[in-house]
This record gives sequence, structure tokens and C-alpha cells, in this order.
Amino acid sequence: MSMKASRILNKTSLFPGVPPVLPVVQASLGLCDGPRLAAAVSRAGGLGTLSVRNPAPAALRLRLRQIRAVTPRPVLLAFTAQWERDAVFDTAIAEGFRAFQVFWWNAPRLISRIRQAGGTVFCQVGTREEARDAIETGASVLIAQGTEAGGQVRSPRPVLELVRDLRDTFGSDIPIIAGGGFADAADGQAALAAGANAALFGTRFLLSEEANAATRDKARLLKASQADLRLDTRMIGDWPCAPRRCLYSRTNEDRPGLYAGLGVGRIQTLLPAADLVRRLAKAGATDAAAPTAASTDYTGGGS
Ligand SMILES: Cc1cc2nc3c(=O)[nH]c(=O)nc-3n(C[C@H](O)[C@H](O)[C@H](O)COP(=O)(O)O)c2cc1C
Repeated sequence: MSMKASRILNKTSLFPGVPPVLPVVQASLGLCDGPRLAAAVSRAGGLGTLSVRNPAPAALRLRLRQIRAVTPRPVLLAFTAQWERDAVFDTAIAEGFRAFQVFWWNAPRLISRIRQAGGTVFCQVGTREEARDAIETGASVLIAQGTEAGGQVRSPRPVLELVRDLRDTFGSDIPIIAGGGFADAADGQAALAAGANAALFGTRFLLSEEANAATRDKARLLKASQADLRLDTRMIGDWPCAPRRCLYSRTNEDRPGLYAGLGVGRIQTLLPAADLVRRLAKAGATDAAAPTAASTDYTGGGS
């Protein structure tokens, strides 16, 4: 990739009371993220995310302390679907974490608890209507997930179109992190040019050394192209009706390590997460075409 020397993008303030971060956010990857990945991303200056399902408080405390042993910088905790419990939230607050992501379901009670505790609510949304609901319920930061995204995706809208719409509709004050199908710095800068404050990378960080997926799954994704993906709409466990964009397999495997977004065909390297943050934050990336409505097949091959 040709980029102008080594200028780094400006840092951005996503929430009050914490230092600004590089505009590179590691997405919630469910079972595939973890303290190592989140800490490495935040330590390198981006914003890391740890997904929190329903651990026992002691197990969560251990994971949060593993992060704090590496970096004092902010890390986002992502509550996934309806699994959150009060004890989990109380543990996170007691350990000093103040930034929380919610996704997929309206969680007014959780959101009001986060705000009462002085926390910041990030909502991952896929439409203008969801964004409006999120803001009315108390979200301070929007994560605009485009339909190109990997893993759990329900947005019908291309990411850059969604960002422009959210920026026009909700004005300049609300921070927006945008992603879905992003593979490199040029994609991130297309999101910033469309009005986002930071870019979201899921699949790109899944293909990092620290991500918690089997080596053989990572190897399969590194060889995959967009045409190898499909949207799987089967029910899984206690998270019903959640289409997942993942690698097509004849045996219908459903492993998060095989989830990927439409940028997968442009990702060929497995790198340490800190290197990825540095690469993705390099300004002046001009060569890679950002995803556009005209160039991208949003249905994914094989679906
Ligand atoms: C392996 C994987 C697992 C994911 N699991 C979750 C999850 O548990 N909760 C969630 O909110 N989003 C999940 N997502 C969606 C991401 O948060 C994000 O929206 C998506 O990765 C962005 O698209 P990209 O992968 O093309 O960068 C997952 C994505 C991937 C790739």
C-alpha cells in the first residue's frame, strides 16, 4: 500500500473524562476477542473492546485485571444480547471500567444503570431508526455497523451511506464509530471522510495474533475471498434470529472463528494487534478502493 510517509491520524475524543484515542476501534468479536487483544489495541493507542457474556464476577474481575496489568487506557466492554446480569455490570464498575457497548436489543434498564454510574453508552446500530432509539434511550456514542460487516449483522445499509445519514440526521455533536467490511487504513479514512469520528475493524483484528480463534480458522480466512462468505440465518443457542456473516462450509459449521466481513479478501496477513493499530492509523492512504454501493456484493456469495 502506498501511503504518504508516516503521518498518523489525529486522536479523537470519544467520551468525557478519558484521554483521546487514535480513530481505530477494535470491534466486539464475541468469543474471539479477549483481554490480550483488547489490551494490546488500547495500549497501542486505539480503543480495544472486550466482549462480556455472562461470566461469574470473579472470572470477569480476573479478565479486567489482566487488561489493567497491561494498560491503564480505556477499553470498551461489550454486552452481548440479553446475557448481561447486574453482578457483571457491578463488577465492571467496581474495577473502574466506564465505557459499555450494547447491541441488538433495546436495553433501557442497563443503559440507565450505566449512566447512573457515570458510564458512557455506545450503541451499535444499523439504521437511522435504531440510532434514534439508542439516543433517546441514553446512548452517547453510535457505532454504525454497515451491512458489509462480519459476524452478527442485521444492518441493511452500506456503511458509508449509513454514516452520512446519521451525521446529517443527528448533527455534529454525537460521536460516530463506523465499520463493516473494512480491511485497511484507506477504508478507515473513507469512514472519517463520510463523517465518522473513528473507524471500526472486526475481521481485521480477528486476523491478529492475539485474537482468540483457532490457528486453522484464521488460516482459512486469510485465504478466503468475499465470494466464500454467506449469511447464516439459523438460530443459535440463546441468541435467536441473528444472521451471521461467515465462511461458507458444506458441513454448516458455526464457529465465531469463521465469521468475517466483506473485507476479508483484502486481508492476507496475520499481524500483532499493535502493528495493526499503527498501520490503520496511518494518514494519507490512497490506493485501496473503499467499499461502495456500486462495487460491493452485499449479499455475500453462497447465501
Ligand atoms: C468473529 C466475529 C464475532 C463477532 N461477534 C460479535 C458479538 O458477539 N457481538 C457484537 O456486538 N458484534 C459481534 N461481531 C460484529 C462486530 O462487532 C462488528 O460489527 C463487525 O466485525 C464489523 O465488520 P468487519 O468484521 O467487517 O470489520 C462479530 C464480528 C466478528 C467478525
